[in-house]
Amino acid sequence: MRQYGCSNDLRGFDLSTLFAETRIGNMTLNNRFIRSATWENMATEEGHMTDKLYAIYEELAKGEVGLIVTGYANIVEEEKPNAGMMGMYNDSFIGEYKKLTELVHRSDSKIVMQLAYGGTKTTHNVGERVIYAPSEVCEKRHTNIRESDDQG
Ligand SMILES: Cc1cc2nc3c(=O)[nH]c(=O)nc-3n(C[C@H](O)[C@H](O)[C@H](O)COP(=O)(O)O)c2cc1C
Repeated sequence: MRQYGCSNDLRGFDLSTLFAETRIGNMTLNNRFIRSATWENMATEEGHMTDKLYAIYEELAKGEVGLIVTGYANIVEEEKPNAGMMGMYNDSFIGEYKKLTELVHRSDSKIVMQLAYGGTKTTHNVGERVIYAPSEVCEKRHTNIRESDDQG
């Protein structure tokens, strides 16, 4: 029987599968190597791309990662779960993400963006804004949680 978990024993696994083309929905990936979403803390204060960020994604793509998941990106301008994260809250990002996507596609890699609303899990600028959440159960640090139903 196969053992899953933290064992380093990979006997019995056909590792060539890792290098085989695969699909997620209608997206075809060159291999099964996926870069898990990783917040880099390298975007500008407003969440815009920087040369450092482009360089990271270019290196991942050139390293033949089949699918790159970006670090989490905030979808509400004033609700930023963490510092230096990428933003996706208005059209000002279209040009730079087009550039990012083209950069990654040039190496035949694929990229998807992780979108996030931090809610009570947010750690950035806590206390300076209203945080919407499924309920008003407060976590430490938070003082102004509001049920999202309040929006009607
Ligand atoms: C520095 C750092 C940033 C991360 N940022 C994100 C993120 O933006 N979104 C997310 O879903 N997970 C994030 N994670 C979690 C990773 O994607 C991954 O799931 C986690 O590290 C577990 O993988 P591992 O067992 O291979 O370490 C982050 C992890 C680290 C260490």
